[in-house]
Amino acid sequence: NNRKPFVAGNWKMNGNKALVSDFLSNLPANNSVDVVICPPSLYLSNFDNAAFALGAQNVSEYASGAHTGETSLAMLSELGCTYVIVGHSERRENHGESNDIVASKVKAVIEAGLTPILCIGEPLEVRESGGVFDYVKAQLDAVANECGKQYISQSVIAYEPIWAIGTGKTASPEQAQEVHAFIRQELSKLDANAAQSVRLLYGGSVNAGNAHELFVQEDIDGGLIGGASLKVQDFTTICQAAS
Ligand code: G3H
Repeated sequence: NNRKPFVAGNWKMNGNKALVSDFLSNLPANNSVDVVICPPSLYLSNFDNAAFALGAQNVSEYASGAHTGETSLAMLSELGCTYVIVGHSERRENHGESNDIVASKVKAVIEAGLTPILCIGEPLEVRESGGVFDYVKAQLDAVANECGKQYISQSVIAYEPIWAIGTGKTASPEQAQEVHAFIRQELSKLDANAAQSVRLLYGGSVNAGNAHELFVQEDIDGGLIGGASLKVQDFTTICQAAS
């Protein structure tokens, strides 16, 4: 395939100005991979002239107004942000983001000219009861219903099984590939060409040691990295594993 590999680091609510400086000085440029750092939004403006792209971890679905504590797409854009993680499981589980809210956010991000990194993935009980495909299909359908099939060519999609996030229990390359292939097949029912070019990332306990075996899978085009994106050395190794 000719999909350019893609690696995004999601710092979650971690990091500080010193970590920003560390990444600005020490993360090598990598022309063969699209590299994105998603720091807490407060730090986006400290990343001037970075050799990598910037993403936010969340955004409001509204353009402006009385939404205390929220951040708008225009603000993110003004700070040089070109990607937005939408529907991370921590937002879905702990901040009440339903499939419908996630779908409206994806739509708002695309309309503002930024690229959503749409997160989907099942909790452990769904995996154990054999419902993974139905579960991720419902997550994708909600977005397609809201945005139409065009979203496929304008998004990056991350499959993150919830039981693998921050647990050290990575999905095996075979488990991840199986779901990635299913996702691409579902997307191809809507738009066969776009489904071949959309980047599908795996997320969930990716580290410097296991990144390569995941990224060589046919339908895994890179990763969404949490914990290991807080160490510039490990993150560099992971970016290299994708190239
Ligand atoms: O957004 C990143 C994912 O939630 C993965 O986090 O690499 O710490 O498991 P993790």
